[in-house]
Amino acid sequence: MLQGKHILLGVTGSIAAYKAAVLCRLLKGAGAEVKVVMTATAKQFITPLTMATLSKNPILVEFFDPENGQWHSHISLGEWADCYVIAPATANTIAKMATGVADNLLLTTYLSARCQTIVAPAMDCDMFAHITTQTNLQTLRSHGVIIADSPAGELASGLTGKGRMAEPEQILALIAQTLTEKKKSLQGKHFVVTAGATIEAIDPVRYITNHSTGKMGYAIAAALATRGAEVTLVTGRTALPTPEGCKRVDVLSAEQMYNAAVEAFTTADGAIMCAAVADYTPATVATQKIKKSDDDMSIPLVRTKDIAAALGAIKGDRLLVGFALESDAGVESAQGKLKRKNLDFIVLNSLTDSGAGFGVDTNKVTFIDNTGSTTLPLMSKAEVAEQIVDKIETLYAHSPQR
Ligand code: C5P
Repeated sequence: MLQGKHILLGVTGSIAAYKAAVLCRLLKGAGAEVKVVMTATAKQFITPLTMATLSKNPILVEFFDPENGQWHSHISLGEWADCYVIAPATANTIAKMATGVADNLLLTTYLSARCQTIVAPAMDCDMFAHITTQTNLQTLRSHGVIIADSPAGELASGLTGKGRMAEPEQILALIAQTLTEKKKSLQGKHFVVTAGATIEAIDPVRYITNHSTGKMGYAIAAALATRGAEVTLVTGRTALPTPEGCKRVDVLSAEQMYNAAVEAFTTADGAIMCAAVADYTPATVATQKIKKSDDDMSIPLVRTKDIAAALGAIKGDRLLVGFALESDAGVESAQGKLKRKNLDFIVLNSLTDSGAGFGVDTNKVTFIDNTGSTTLPLMSKAEVAEQIVDKIETLYAHSPQR
């Protein structure tokens, strides 16, 4: 159910901390990778040894290991996580989360995590019912945090009421639902996606093209549409079916692709330039089939227009993503394209990586932006597309003017 998902489990100082151990087992059983971050008080309720053994990862409590000075980065923890689950969450931690207090690793990670956070409150019924706690929970809800409903029942204090931590099985179901739900997070946005190879005619019979099949661009168009975006897919000739919910504009030449992309971009919020566009096209197209002769033959070629660079020049606050396919490692050259074409980020794939490139269903890519680069493992093109769309969402989350 959660195969390969990264779940960060935050544990705070509550009697219900023992249930975090059960939740950790359930998460592992569902195929998730689990890392646990605890507050100092949580260690009084459940030992790091228990949580480390169950999660199969060292427990993180402090910003650095006092023994060897090793830094525990809340930023990388937040980036690693697909979902951050704080269970149990005390009234104290909930209050700090609601107001941005960041005095331990669990809280700094909350502030820097970009993934969905789920909070399972656990406290005495009077603390839970207190107007301050309820206001803080409401604040967290308004910040997009999911609150695992606290059921009424017997409490450790001997009182009966609301405040018990939700059962681990319920929290597991909530995590699974959150991660599998198709979020319509890009509703109201319009993207242009270019895909496939262009075809540059030499004469009525022959043409210049390349090996691109359009699979990567079509996967991106599908991923954007699934998240609610309006997509105009400007596509070279391919055998692929149009992804559900996309408007498809078929073109052949680089010139046609330029015209269609520029026109669609006038009403777009962004563009993902995935097409393998010819850099050169025959200076003239012969109207008749060129006859062979005994002489050598050469065809004068002229430069095509760079569509990505043209959109980069007019994009303003809009988002622009490019691709770089290199036959060597290619990082420097991709960085050059990032700047020259005014891209927000560029997706580098190298023909030196097996499983990457033309025709295959997998890809191995590196994301490069002006802050650095991140290399992803080999994965399906559909998964790469999801990662690209996740990054686009993150860019929107970090720049509200868009
Ligand atoms: O410069 P290079 O062709 O390697 O750049 C690749 C990126 O630029 C890709 O995103 C590709 O779709 C885009 N491009 C374009 N128009 C061109 C050439 C490349 O949009 N004429």
